[in-house]
Amino acid sequence: MAELPIDLSSSNLFDVLYTTRAMRRLKPDPVPDDLVVKILEAGTRAANGANLQSWHFVVVKDAAIKEAVQVWYKKAFDEFVSPRYADNPTPAGSTAEKYHRQHLAVEYLTDHFHKAPVWIVACIQHDNPLIPPDRKAGASIYPAVQNMLLAARSLGLGASLTTRHLIFEEESEKALELPLGMHSYAIIPIGYPMGNFGPVGRGDLREFVSLDRVGQPWSALDKA
Ligand SMILES: Cc1cc2nc3c(=O)[nH]c(=O)nc-3n(C[C@H](O)[C@H](O)[C@H](O)COP(=O)(O)O)c2cc1C
Repeated sequence: MAELPIDLSSSNLFDVLYTTRAMRRLKPDPVPDDLVVKILEAGTRAANGANLQSWHFVVVKDAAIKEAVQVWYKKAFDEFVSPRYADNPTPAGSTAEKYHRQHLAVEYLTDHFHKAPVWIVACIQHDNPLIPPDRKAGASIYPAVQNMLLAARSLGLGASLTTRHLIFEEESEKALELPLGMHSYAIIPIGYPMGNFGPVGRGDLREFVSLDRVGQPWSALDKA
């Protein structure tokens, strides 16, 4: 299927969407607060269940907190992510070489997680009975997370959605000093990117989309 042409300098929504990749190599230079505020404003424009807004966003700049969390983020990499990497199949839309480069970037972010100048930790307060901590809960925070990733991209900032700290959830949330009942769903490290933005590579839509019933092809996708 044909790819849409991409303009890297454009702020057109589709150009931003098509170039919002996980940017894991970040400069340590500080990010101005007004840009972080802009990102948070974009995040809180997202849909959330019943508009309850049980979310909370912790802007973390404190080096000691970031370092304490990075210990668990790295332990999860060393004990779970890295040993499994070699057995994982190459993702759709990628190549063995690109996947290897991705792994190196993942390792880089792991080692430099705490060096990102600012994190946004996206949380939900779990004591609201209308938002039980079940399969739906993330649907009230990940739209905000995606809005923030898009906003960061649009402002020329690199960011990525990370959840690996949750492998050691209790320890990481203690390091984050979250109050009782509040739980983290993502940590978004943000900074100026070392590299360039580029197109997001994914598989052909026909691999993921069916018409009416799973497995039934949709001819519209052949023409696109
Ligand atoms: C639920 C979820 C959890 C993720 N957790 C991490 C993470 O802990 N560390 C990381 O480096 N990337 C993480 N990612 C980013 C993905 O690895 C990334 O989207 C994928 O490698 C594709 O990269 P691309 O968007 O640059 O194409 C996560 C993404 C999602 C959706």
